[in-house]
Amino acid sequence: MTMKKILNQIKMEFTVAGIVHPRYYHTIGVIEMALTLNNVHQLHIEKEKIILAAGFHDIAKLLDKSQMLDILVKNYPNEVENLLDYPQIWHSFAGPIYAKEKYYIDDEKVLQAIKYHTTGRPNMTNLEKIIFVSDYIEKITRKEASMIETRKIALKDLDSAVCKTLGDTIMYLKQTHKKIYDLTQAAYDYYLAKEN
Ligand SMILES: [Fe+2]
Ligand SMILES: [Fe+2]
Repeated sequence: MTMKKILNQIKMEFTVAGIVHPRYYHTIGVIEMALTLNNVHQLHIEKEKIILAAGFHDIAKLLDKSQMLDILVKNYPNEVENLLDYPQIWHSFAGPIYAKEKYYIDDEKVLQAIKYHTTGRPNMTNLEKIIFVSDYIEKITRKEASMIETRKIALKDLDSAVCKTLGDTIMYLKQTHKKIYDLTQAAYDYYLAKEN
C-alpha cells in the first residue's frame, strides 16, 4: 500500500460528520516520529511496515465501546474478563482485528505492534518499541514536559525511552487511581532491569 492510500484510509476512518478528528493529526505525528527513530537508531525496519503500524495503531479508537467489546469477546475469549477493568486498552487489542477485517492488514509484526502500543510488553521487537514510544512523544499533539523529555531520551537510547514511557504511564495510572494492567507492569519491570 502506498503512503498516500494509507493516509486516505486513516483520514476517512477519523472523519466524523465531515470533521477530521484530532486523532488523525496524532497519527501523522506517530508515523513521522517512528520513521525518525528508525533512522536515528539505524534499525533498518521496512518503511512500509512502520507506516502501516503507526498509521493503523489507533484505527479502533473511535469505535463505540460496545463495538470494541464485541471484538474482544469474539477474539480474546480467555482474556476478555480481565480486560473489562481496562477500557483504555480496548482500542489497542481491538486494533489488529479491525485493521485485518476492514483494511486487510495481514503482516503479523505490524498487527502485534498495533496490539501492544498501549500496554507495551517485555522484550518488544524494534517495530513495537518505536510505535509504543512514538505514540507518547510524537511532536504534533504530545506537548507535556514529560513527553518532551522522553523525546530527547528516545533520540539517544530507545530502551531508556521505552522504560521512561512505561514509568510515566504507571505513575499516571496511580495518580488517577486506575489499575495497572499486568503486561504493562511486566514490561516496566523488564525494561527497568535492563537499565540497571
Ligand atoms: Fe492508542
Ligand atoms: Fe495513539
